[in-house]
Parts: sequence; C-alpha cells; structure tokens
Amino acid sequence: MSEKLTLFPLIILTIIIIINIPIQSSALRYPHDLVNIVADSVEPQNDAPQPKSESETQEPSSKSLPPRVPALFVIGDSSVDCGTNNYLITFARADRLPYGRDFDTHQPTGRFCNGRTPVDYLAQYLGLPLVPSYLGQTGRVEDMIHGVNYASAGAGIIFTSGSELGQHISFTQQIQQFTDTFQQFILSMGEDTAIDLISSSVFYISIGTNDYIHYYLRNVSNIQMLYLPWNFNQFLATAVKQEIQNLYTMNVRKIVLMGLPPIGCAPYYMWRYGSQDGKCIEMINDMILEFNFVMRYMVEELRLELPDANVTFCDVFQGSMDIIKNHQRYGFSVTADACCGLGKYRGFIMCISPEMACRNASYHIWWDQFHPTDAVNSILADNVWSGKHTNMCNPMNLKDLVAGKAE
Ligand SMILES: *[C@@H]1O[C@H](CO)[C@@H](O)[C@H](O)[C@H]1NC(C)=O
Ligand SMILES: *[C@@H]1O[C@H](CO)[C@@H](O)[C@H](O)[C@H]1NC(C)=O
Ligand SMILES: *[C@@H]1O[C@H](CO)[C@@H](O)[C@H](O)[C@H]1NC(C)=O
Repeated sequence: MSEKLTLFPLIILTIIIIINIPIQSSALRYPHDLVNIVADSVEPQNDAPQPKSESETQEPSSKSLPPRVPALFVIGDSSVDCGTNNYLITFARADRLPYGRDFDTHQPTGRFCNGRTPVDYLAQYLGLPLVPSYLGQTGRVEDMIHGVNYASAGAGIIFTSGSELGQHISFTQQIQQFTDTFQQFILSMGEDTAIDLISSSVFYISIGTNDYIHYYLRNVSNIQMLYLPWNFNQFLATAVKQEIQNLYTMNVRKIVLMGLPPIGCAPYYMWRYGSQDGKCIEMINDMILEFNFVMRYMVEELRLELPDANVTFCDVFQGSMDIIKNHQRYGFSVTADACCGLGKYRGFIMCISPEMACRNASYHIWWDQFHPTDAVNSILADNVWSGKHTNMCNPMNLKDLVAGKAE
C-alpha cells in the first residue's frame, strides 16, 4: 500500500493537469473509478454500497417516537449528499472507505463524512427513518413517502459551479426532481392528500459553498472583475429566493435554509493560502459572512412575501466558529488538520484511501479537505433542532418550526 500511496499524488496531479482542474477539486477520488463507470455506462452500480438498510439501523428510541412531520426533503451539495453522486460520472464521490467508516453501517454510502450528515441526525429528531437518495431508490412512492434527498456533491446555486468535477445535479435540477416526486404523489394518493403531505413536511436546503469553491474563488469567467463579493452574494440570494418561491407554488411551507460554514478555515484553503499556526483565511471567511448576511435578509423578505410559510435561516458559520473557538469544551483536540488527507493541514491531497486517515476522527473538527466530521455534524444538528449550544437559526429552531404538528 505504501507504494500505492506514493503513486496516488502523482496520478492525481497528472489528472488535474490533463483536465485542467486547478487543484480545487473538492473530492477527487480514485481516478480509475471514472474509467470503470464510463465502461459500465451510466447504469446505477448495484454493487456500490447503498444506504438501503439504514432505517433498520436506527436507534430504537427514534422508532418509538411518533413522526413530528410526514417527511423530510433535502436539497443541497456534498454537505448533505447521501448517495446521489454514486450514480454520476464525477470525481466528487464518497463511495470508498474511509468515507462512512463511523456511519451506522460502517460502510461508505456516498456521504462526504466519516459518519452522519446533519440531516441524518435531524431525521432522527423528527422521528423519521434516514432519508434515501433520489437516485438510490426505486422511484416507488412507498420509498419516498418519508422524504427524499436530492442533494448532489459539487452542486452550486449557479448551474455550472462545480462542473469541472464531472456530472452533478444542480440546484435547479434538484427542484425539478422534486416536482416529479410531487406529481407522483398526486397520481398515487390524490391531489388533496399530496398537498397536505408536502405542506406539512420539512424542506432542508444546504447549498452555496461550491459557488465559492468552484466558481468565485477560482475566478471563473473573470467573475471577480465583474462582481464584487457583495454583488455576487446578491445574485446568489436572488436565485435562491426564486427557487424557494417555486417550492412555495408546489405547496412547500416549512423551509430550513442553511447558511455557509467558514470555508476559510477548511484544511484545503489553509494549505493553499499558506495559513500560519492554523489561522483561518479571513479574506474567504469575510465573503462567507457576507453571504450569510445577505441570505438572512432575503429570508426576512420572503417571510413578508409568503406569510403563510415558515422559513428559517440557520447560520452554520456562527455555530462552527463556536466549535472552533471552544473546541476543548466539545472534546476536539485538533482544529486545523483534517482527519484524512495529506500535506500541510492534510489539505493538499484529498482523502482517497483508509491509510490517509487518522485513528479517531472524533478528536478532529475536519474530516477531509472541505467537510466536517460526524462529531461536528451532530453538534450542528443539535443547534438547528433546538439551539442547544448556539442559537444558529433565525427566527426559530426546527423544533419550534414543526411544533403544533405533533399535537
Ligand atoms: C480574474 O481573471 C481575469 C482574467 O480572466 C484577470 O484579469 C483578473 O485579474 C483575475 N482576478 C483576480 C482577482 O485574480
Ligand atoms: C408558521 O406559519 C403560520 C402561518 O403564518 C403561523 O400561524 C405559525 O405561527 C408559524 N409557526 C411558527 C412556529 O412560527
Ligand atoms: C474515539 O474517541 C472517543 C472519545 O474518546 C471514544 O468514545 C470512541 O470510542 C473512539 N472511537 C474509536 C473508533 O476508537
């Protein structure tokens, strides 16, 4: 394996040069996967580990709780992808160990984490089974009735963000897929029941980092000359607002919009921008702060425009900075270095083999170049649910947003 290990960086760098990815690929993994998938055509790979039996691995406590809402629908990027990209031709994939090694099944599922994502924890709080990926299930209404996860790693608010990694399902396409799901619900249960189900279900939207990682910070199409971060953020917020209005016309009424995490503290950028002593890259974090500010303002506008909808904005930046600052209190001894990867902060070469991973991820804040560990996702989910450690959500936590339904 040591021989392989030294070869990997070379292979990766060669590929980066060949297809001109400026080393920013968030999850470039096993280049030969791409070859295999192309050879196998785009057919879903049945041998790929699938999150099928997840509902069986739920802790018994969640089984005894009555669901607080009928379903949880998820739209987003690698922060919440639970297997979509296993079916796509892309470098952004998490279908090999060590990904998933601390998950319920201890198997990779396509989640960009050692364990669970925030929506896995939230599904449990809502009394629901873990939500299946849209491409990973059969398309039968019975399999989608408790929710569907459309999230795709590499996706951004802008259609082309992340496209240098290969295929992904963009934000707009994910909403199109939800439209299909809604139509299937109408066909199988009738319009009134379908509308009732959708309007009392929760929508969780977590997207936007790739518009920075793969678009703005890469200066695609000279974007930095054309748009200041402020105008770029206005542009993104307008796009998200439009999509939420589209969801509203499809009777969606309970929405959690996630802000962006401090990617200026992500191991990749700490390596790339030569951070000293693990200090976060302020220039990037400032843009993210502004993004969150603009999104939060947009949500306040939406609340006035859609008075019978409950939309809340959760600021992951705030929650994450609390974890980084008070890491000892949370049991994290390593704040800057990823658990898995190579190079300074383990941010230079992406996580592609179990040998690159640390022994115990629960001491780390970052799992790989861009993604937090299961331990961090659990804390963030607690904050979204009830503001347990940090009041991240404005004007209300998810628990309050769904209250009333349980009674
Ligand atoms: C962005 O790219 C354009 C050329 O495409 C260049 O003129 C400009 O200086 C770049 N901006 C930054 C901040 O690198
Ligand atoms: C959600 O919106 C409805 C309709 O406007 C409102 O009556 C209800 O109080 C809101 N729920 C919360 C938790 O704010
Ligand atoms: C990692 O460390 C935590 C905290 O000390 C411990 O509870 C857990 O069992 C460890 N996990 C492994 C896989 O060693």
